Amino acid sequence: MIVLGIESSCDETAAALVNEKKEILGEALLSQEEHKVFGGVVPEIAARSHLDHIDNILEQCFAKTNLSLADIDAIAASSGPGLIGGVVVGVMTAKALSIALNKPFIAVNHLEGHALAARISNEVTFPYLLLLVSGGHCQILVVKDVDKYERLGTTIDDAVGEAFDKVAKMLGLGYPGGPAVEKLAATGDENRFTLPRPLIGSQDCNLSFSGLKTAVRKIVETYASDGEIAHADIPKHDLADICACFQYTATDCLCRKLKRAITYFKEKYPKGKNLVVSGGVASNTYLRTKLQKLADDNDLVFAAPPIRFCTDNGVMIAWAGLERFRKGYTSELDFKPRPRWPLDSEAPKAAGAGGVKA
Ligand code: KG4
Ligand code: ZN
Repeated sequence: MIVLGIESSCDETAAALVNEKKEILGEALLSQEEHKVFGGVVPEIAARSHLDHIDNILEQCFAKTNLSLADIDAIAASSGPGLIGGVVVGVMTAKALSIALNKPFIAVNHLEGHALAARISNEVTFPYLLLLVSGGHCQILVVKDVDKYERLGTTIDDAVGEAFDKVAKMLGLGYPGGPAVEKLAATGDENRFTLPRPLIGSQDCNLSFSGLKTAVRKIVETYASDGEIAHADIPKHDLADICACFQYTATDCLCRKLKRAITYFKEKYPKGKNLVVSGGVASNTYLRTKLQKLADDNDLVFAAPPIRFCTDNGVMIAWAGLERFRKGYTSELDFKPRPRWPLDSEAPKAAGAGGVKA
């Protein structure tokens, strides 16, 4: 069984071919550079760029293989949530291939792509506890099975990746901010500034990063002269300290709420063995190290996708498509791309697979 996966929901145009043995048979990815000057992704530019590059990415994906379109069994596309112009490009490409080849189309929830990515390279069995942290989402979930999720907590404002990006922007570190903040934080003093931990005392698994971001802004403003912040005036070691304190506090908030989630998970799902992290922020080594310790302390096995499969990519969409396909969850061709699509809501499946028509 070979599934072609297409990703175009944000600023990566990507495609991959994956088989049941978890072999990546082909892969191509383009990270759009056009957004850097704006300090964030511009939806209209992203959509046009996906349209310009998708054919070439598909060609590249097949180029180093001896496979042709005739060899694939199904076509999966990231079908939401995401920037709708880009999502439409990927979904329409997948539907066109599905019609031309007479092979099933599979609408993959982008978040399910992240959620299942750790199963490609690690022995991760259902149910598992998942921290999903990306530029647009920050959730704690139990992954009960393919298509079956229990959401334990979510951010009530900014996603943690978004907070990394906004802090980076305030400090003049460019976009995407996460890797730049992590790099500087490695040389900083994480105890220099005490930053707020919103919602940390609440008796649930919800998170909030907006206040933390504002507190960083207030520190940055102390360097302003005449109301203007000149990033060049912030000494490098101060930049590093701010990054370290932000990263430490954001990670601490995640770990504390995860600790609460672990207690619930172990009680309700005693067979569950894994703590998994995924999404772009899961590439952060500092966070991975803290989560490893949290898992060890709680007799769970920590698993994370290799760093290149944490940020958006085609492999995770092909893999999620394959996991859905082998359960019989294909989609109708009238499936409408979804700008919003919570993981714990009903997913689109073909009527024959016991699901609902989207
Ligand atoms: O999953 P992803 O590629 O796209 C979304 O679906 O949102 O995640 C991108 C996010 C960005 O906010 C980026 O700054 C963050 O992941 N990110 C990181 C790191 N690498 C990427 N955040 C913290 N540390 C990193 N090393
Ligand atoms: Zn993503």
